[in-house]
Amino acid sequence: MAYFATVFRLWYKTEIKKMKLIQTINELRAELDVLRREGKTIGLVPTMGALHAGHASLVKRAVAENDVVVVSDFVNPTQFNDKNDLLKYPRTLDADCKLLEACGAAFVFAPSVEEIYPEPDTRQFSYAPLDTVMEGKYRPGHFNGVCQIVSKLFMYVQPDKAYFGEKDYQQIAVIRAMVADLKLPVNICPCPVIREESGLARSSRNTLLTEDERHIAANIYRVLKNSLPYAERHSVEETTQNVIEQINGIDGLEVEYYQIVDGNTLQPIANWTDADSVVGCITVYCGHRPIRLIDHIRYKG
Ligand code: PAF
Repeated sequence: MAYFATVFRLWYKTEIKKMKLIQTINELRAELDVLRREGKTIGLVPTMGALHAGHASLVKRAVAENDVVVVSDFVNPTQFNDKNDLLKYPRTLDADCKLLEACGAAFVFAPSVEEIYPEPDTRQFSYAPLDTVMEGKYRPGHFNGVCQIVSKLFMYVQPDKAYFGEKDYQQIAVIRAMVADLKLPVNICPCPVIREESGLARSSRNTLLTEDERHIAANIYRVLKNSLPYAERHSVEETTQNVIEQINGIDGLEVEYYQIVDGNTLQPIANWTDADSVVGCITVYCGHRPIRLIDHIRYKG
């Protein structure tokens, strides 16, 4: 039985191999309603486009685990607290479609801003203290915007599973809180950070870095990794300060925050023994424009 199910799944994926670009919610719903009625499982990979190898790994995993995969490609304005950041965010839909088709996605959903927000979204999502620390503190309103768009995508697509990169560590925690709050029947699947050979975490924003800045930015993960043995002989406070000093000592890098937190609650810890899961989360500005980069390292758990 399992054999026939696998053969059917492979046949089905080949049949719908030609990926479809969809721009309206109605068309997306119509396509997915038919497939859902046929009993197909649906995976969703929400993205803001400018896709890279990190996204490709999410999509490939989604394709392996679901009958049908929808990738949303939408630069969501409500999650940008800085208008310049929104303006300079890279947009590469044609290249994205090529990559997605090669990865086996069935649909790319690339709506206009008016399609998603015909009226301003006034809904307020608050998952304190998860969303008030780190990104929540330095980018006020960011997670509200993320919850607005992700909740809409979950309503339109009604996925069985949704895939998010662990690079945005805090984002996954906030989305999980939203899913629990709204009792949404979707399984959140976190996927590991994909790195460039230099160690730099893959990010759409990397395309905004010059070649020199890319080399400089690789120091972020180098310093984070070196902090692992350092942490064995030093306190949380000393390790935090050491990471900040080392990165700020590199020309072209400036730390916005580095916080060592409980990996589940995301609250700062004072001692290594305060939590079973311990993660260090960092945001660094790189270069002259400058480009905001985030990363994290796991100390424990
Ligand atoms: O992680 C991202 O790219 C975005 O925050 C998301 C989840 C696609 C929502 O716009």
